Amino acid sequence: MCGIVGYTGNNSALSPVIEGLRKLEYRGYDSAGIALPIAIGKPLFIEKRAGKLKKLEDALAKTPDAKSGIGHTRWATHGGPTDTNAHPHLDNEGKLALIHNGIIENYVQLRSQLEKRGHKFKSETDTESVVHLLSDARKENNGDLAAAMRQVCQQLKGSFTLLAIHSDNPSHIVGARRNSPLVVGVGNGENFLASDVAAFIAHTKTALELGQDEVVEITPTSVVVTNLSGQVVKPNQFEISWDAKAAERGGFSHFMLKEIYEQPKAIADTLLGRLDGLDVKIKFKKFEKIVIIACGTAYNAGLVGKYAIEKWGQIPVDVELASEYRYREPSLDKKTLVIPISQSGETMDTLMALRYAKSMGATIFSVCNTNGSTIGRESDAVLYTHAGPEIAVASTKAFATQLIAMYLIGLEIGRQLEHLNSKKCKEIIKELTQLPAKVEQVLETVEPLRELTRKFKSADSVLFLGRYTGYPTVLEGALKLKELAYMHAEGFAGGELKHGPIALIDNGTPVVAIMPTKDSVLAGKMASNIQEVKARGAVVIAISEDEFAGADHLIRIPKVDPLLQPVLAVVPLQVIAYEMAVARGNDVDQPRNLAKSVTVE
Ligand code: F6R
Repeated sequence: MCGIVGYTGNNSALSPVIEGLRKLEYRGYDSAGIALPIAIGKPLFIEKRAGKLKKLEDALAKTPDAKSGIGHTRWATHGGPTDTNAHPHLDNEGKLALIHNGIIENYVQLRSQLEKRGHKFKSETDTESVVHLLSDARKENNGDLAAAMRQVCQQLKGSFTLLAIHSDNPSHIVGARRNSPLVVGVGNGENFLASDVAAFIAHTKTALELGQDEVVEITPTSVVVTNLSGQVVKPNQFEISWDAKAAERGGFSHFMLKEIYEQPKAIADTLLGRLDGLDVKIKFKKFEKIVIIACGTAYNAGLVGKYAIEKWGQIPVDVELASEYRYREPSLDKKTLVIPISQSGETMDTLMALRYAKSMGATIFSVCNTNGSTIGRESDAVLYTHAGPEIAVASTKAFATQLIAMYLIGLEIGRQLEHLNSKKCKEIIKELTQLPAKVEQVLETVEPLRELTRKFKSADSVLFLGRYTGYPTVLEGALKLKELAYMHAEGFAGGELKHGPIALIDNGTPVVAIMPTKDSVLAGKMASNIQEVKARGAVVIAISEDEFAGADHLIRIPKVDPLLQPVLAVVPLQVIAYEMAVARGNDVDQPRNLAKSVTVE
């Protein structure tokens, strides 16, 4: 939520800041703003606009040049998405600008103290208190902005990434972080600060991770990191493996469509070098139980993970909504392995559940897509998915790779605990190896589904049915449709229908059903569930490996081990959600009210 960029160097700052914001727009897109120091000691140049980044860009046509600057794209929490509430926020002299990602929990108290001291506020945001606080602290510290930032951070409660710039020292940008992301991009004669490496990979692939409660100062030629006591800290440096082109749309009409089509490669990359043993060393024997914690799509991947780990590894697995987990004070100890799953590695709910589990003595083995992210850093071990940058807000290729990570973990546990003999391991490995080609096959056959989907664009509601691994898959299908098409959509386990949800079926209700393979005992039961809804007027689209005459429309997918079926079956569901969003005129890559990285609880 909220994207942050800072640039200082020998070139004009406008273009890297705006380009960076474009790459981060997935994090928030209800308003955007920029601050540029155009003359030493004079008020900063500021432009901020409610609405998409394009509005800001249009307003910047005659922008003066500056060699440094900070920019922000917002996902509103405190105060609606207006020009005034957009960041940056300024001190009373207009020389100090601040941008913020996160929530300042004690802003009400701070604001009232500051108002008593004569500070004038313009916005309804929590952020504005911080800029006034920083302004006073800077004066107290004889103009030392970094010292002021360290002092201010100690007064703040909540989560934040902050970037500040002052016109007295225009090439100097100061940042700080607690519970929200901030990475440094190290260039040649230029340096960057951003919420995510995607903002600067076109300029540099060398990055530095910042730890909790650290303050960073950048100039064109230096980067200094300190803790809140002012001691210099050596940050961890890493090279970004993502290709800058991966963060471009490359001929596709939307990032989401491009990312759907990137799934075969993302799956192959995530499998690479891991089939004969994980590249992360964990002794699974010492754990009696596994708890998977995640949100949204990652949670759905976790549900499939439970099926795989329990079947192949024979360890009991609980899958928990990260946002709920710590509040019920669950029992766990050092015999518990906790697996947080997170594409961004920054989801606050997941991070907080992780910290709770850690405090109870559990070992944390996370599955993340983003290098250098907080969840990865705070884990005992990380299995990185290799989906590459996922820009569309709705997750597709990250989900596919999270499933792969779960299978790899299940396989490794089965192997270590000797529940899988080498013959079974070989069979699983063969099936996993074939997945990229099979997903490719699914992608080659989804075209008719796009036309079919458009026929249902005015439906009030779409229901999804599945059994066994088809159940988490339909939960994911329904989530995708809700977030993209803004339609009522729900996923049900086929057997649950008769316990209530069947009352939702009306004449013409579209029902998307995933058929279990015909060799499974569940195939006949699912066929009956389909008959039950058809008898009540539903129009059924079945996704099936086999010929199936019981539905109104049939989408065929290749044969695969039932545990791995979600990797194939989810693809038509992603396409349905994508096509429905396009048909309903929605913004596919940036659906309303959402942000990709949810760094607030
Ligand atoms: C849905 C979606 C979200 C995320 C969820 C967790 O398409 O993308 O439901 O899956 O917000 O995000 P991460 O994986 O970054 O922790």
